[in-house]
This record gives sequence, structure tokens and C-alpha cells, in this order.
Amino acid sequence: MSKGQKRIGILTAGGDCPGLNAAIRGVGKTALLKYGYSILGFSSGYLGLIRNEYKVLDELALSGILTVGGTILGSSREKPFKETEYDDYIMSKPDHIVENYKALGLDCLVCIGGNGTQKTAWRLAELGINVIGVPKTIDNDVRGTDLTFGFDSAVAIAAEAIDRLHTTANSHKRIMVVEVMGHSAGWLTLNAGVAAGGDVILIPEIPYDLDIIAEYLNRRAALGKPYSIVVVAEGIALPPKSSGKPRTVPAGGFIAHQIQKITGLETRETILGYIQRGGSPTARDRVVATELGSYAAEMIHRGDFGKMAAYDGFALKSVSLEDVAKGAKTVPPDHPLIAYARSLDTCFGDRR
Ligand code: F6P
Repeated sequence: MSKGQKRIGILTAGGDCPGLNAAIRGVGKTALLKYGYSILGFSSGYLGLIRNEYKVLDELALSGILTVGGTILGSSREKPFKETEYDDYIMSKPDHIVENYKALGLDCLVCIGGNGTQKTAWRLAELGINVIGVPKTIDNDVRGTDLTFGFDSAVAIAAEAIDRLHTTANSHKRIMVVEVMGHSAGWLTLNAGVAAGGDVILIPEIPYDLDIIAEYLNRRAALGKPYSIVVVAEGIALPPKSSGKPRTVPAGGFIAHQIQKITGLETRETILGYIQRGGSPTARDRVVATELGSYAAEMIHRGDFGKMAAYDGFALKSVSLEDVAKGAKTVPPDHPLIAYARSLDTCFGDRR
């Protein structure tokens, strides 16, 4: 075992998700127990780094957290490079970060988070900080990695919720519209929708036509199918109001209203919301978070900075944060899962 005296900072930023503690444990235990580094955990994402609020993560602090939801460090959507009128004029937030990083004698900063977090991590790397990213999000929309942790848990939670909608939909012979998170990507909706047998699946990457959806639902009703399930991504485009102003209602509510109006079939909506981010990670997410975290510690050891730990299929690799920061990873409309679902006559709201 090679021992060094490195000092590592860890933070969790952005929307939380199941598996954050497993990832903290994965990075922390590998860095501490395999390499003998010391670890500081910053509170509330980049806010802790700006304010110099942290705690030492020793072996005890890293124990008993593998299965626990949320994050022991707390999180926030603080974006240090975004100026606000409240910023002080003496020192910018990035300046505070660089100063604290140096004053604490850190050798590396591990940023566990989604797209916004990784973009900030890259900008910190440009300021000379040794940064390593670990991709988390229920949305699975981080570029450069096939998988993020948190996604599997959210798919399982959403699928279980949709399963439950089947029985109540059947009792009342209704159309059930269920809105799923995912920001501007359809990964979560597509996977939960397929897993739970959604009849219609609407994702931001495939433009939909309400008349096609209505036609499809009417055909099911005419076949004697007593109910239908419509799974809608929160990020689908909604047509502007007649005034030309953008529509701000939730996607699920809008689609449910339109379906009932066009088909006359009784329709209800459910918005799953933050339930999808809460609670204990699935076994798969515990493994994914542990692998990504432990791999990040190996990256620290070999000085592979300015990079993010990533999956290429089942294999781990490091990818450039500069590339990750270029934008979100959306679902390709020719994704095999969409093709398989179409073979089963799942409707994506478009004409095939
Ligand atoms: O990125 C995770 C996510 O849950 C998205 O699916 C959702 O759009 C967003 O975060 C909600 O953000 P907030 O926690 O800021 O309300």
C-alpha cells in the first residue's frame, strides 16, 4: 500500500439523489484507507467551499452511510460563477474558492454532481484547482458517461408508482397521466415508462402530436382496453398560449387536460416529483456509486485531474471535464429501447 499525505476536499452539489453517501464513502474510504489521504467534506455543495464550511471525514464518519439516502454533506444549487447583485465587490466567489482551497492545503477537489456541478468543476480546473468529477443525477443526462448513479433508484421508484396507477386506472376505467422528472432529457421517463408498461411515453427528444395520442387512446378504448397509462417527461415542449406567452403549467397537467378535452375519456394526472429522489439507493446504485467513487480516488492517486470518472458500457474510464461541460446528454431518437417499445405498439406521440 503506497501512502501519501494528500489532502482531499469532497462536495456534493445540485439536486440530491440516492447514492450520494455511497459515492462519498467510495471516494473517501479508498482515499483514506488505501492511500492514507486526509479528507474534508464541504457542506452544501459549492456554498461550503465559498464559506469555508467543512468537516473532517474520518473512518467513523464514512461508516454506516452506504444505504442512507440524501447526502451527509448537504447540497445546494449554488453556482459560484453566476454573479448576483448580492455578491460582495471585494472578492468574487471563485476567488474565495481558490483562496480557501489553497489555505486548506488541498491537493484535489472531488465534485460529485450533475451537469451544472461538472461545468463549475471545469471552470475551477481552468483556475488551476485539481478537480475530479463524479457524475450523479436521477436524470442520467451527464455527457461522457453511459450511466450516472441515482438513475437506477429513480427508475425503480417511478416504475413502482406507475405500477400502482394501473390498478386504480383499471377500477375507474380512466386514462392516467403521470409526470416524471428528468429535466430536459427523457432517460428516466423512457426507462420507467417501459418498465411499468406505459401505453404512451412522451419524452422531450420526440416531438408529439396531441391528435395522434388521442387517436391511439381511442383505438385502445375501442378494442375494449379499460384504461391507459400515459407517462410524460416534465421537460416536454408545451405549445405557447394564444397570447404567444410560454405555458408554465406542469407538463402532466397540460397533457391530461388536452387528452380529456379531445377524447372525452375521463383522465387524471399524477406528478411524482421529489419522491423520485428520496430514500435509500437500489443495490445497483450502491454498486455504481461505489465504483465511480473508488475510481475517482484512483484518479487522484495517479494525478488524473480536470477529468470525470465515467462509464463506458460496464468499464470505468476518465473523461475530460471540458467535454462534459459542453452540454447535456439527451436520448437519441433512434435509441434501441425506443425501437423495442415501438415494436410493442407503445406510442411516442409521433406518426410511425
Ligand atoms: O436534476 C435532478 C432534478 O430532480 C430534475 O429531474 C428536476 O428537473 C430538478 O432536479 C428539480 O430541481 P430542484 O431540486 O432545484 O427543484
